[in-house]
Amino acid sequence: MKLLVLNGVNLNLTGKREQGVYGGETLEEINRELEAFVEGKGHSVDFVQSNFEGEICTQIQRAEGVYDGIVLNAGAFTHYSYAIRDAIASVSVPVVEVHMSNVQAREEFRHKSVFTEVCKGEILGFGKYSYILALESFLL
Ligand code: DQA
Repeated sequence: MKLLVLNGVNLNLTGKREQGVYGGETLEEINRELEAFVEGKGHSVDFVQSNFEGEICTQIQRAEGVYDGIVLNAGAFTHYSYAIRDAIASVSVPVVEVHMSNVQAREEFRHKSVFTEVCKGEILGFGKYSYILALESFLL
């Protein structure tokens, strides 16, 4: 299995912004832990973060034929990006949507994901373990 962890807007600030919501570990630290988890099971994982909506679309398009699955935390793009939604629908690579926070317990605008219908599944509310659980779902 070759997996891609794709993080969107503001996720590069993880560990620095809103630590009460997203924790104190940096994205780099979390990614190293995810890498050890996946490699420990004999699989491989790549990591991409971008603050640009179009770049997230490009990464999803490029994943076709390269990756067996994508773990996507698109950040706030989740709630309104039809462009990313259409990119997900355009590839056969399965995508699992993740959120570190429980978006259903937060502001109303976070309750809606425009990706839900085109994703394999959704995991939210478990901090960095949301990523681990999503990765695990591909490795079962
Ligand atoms: C987030 C939740 C989003 O609503 C928010 O905009 C983020 C992070 C999460 O991981 O909990 O940037 O995707």
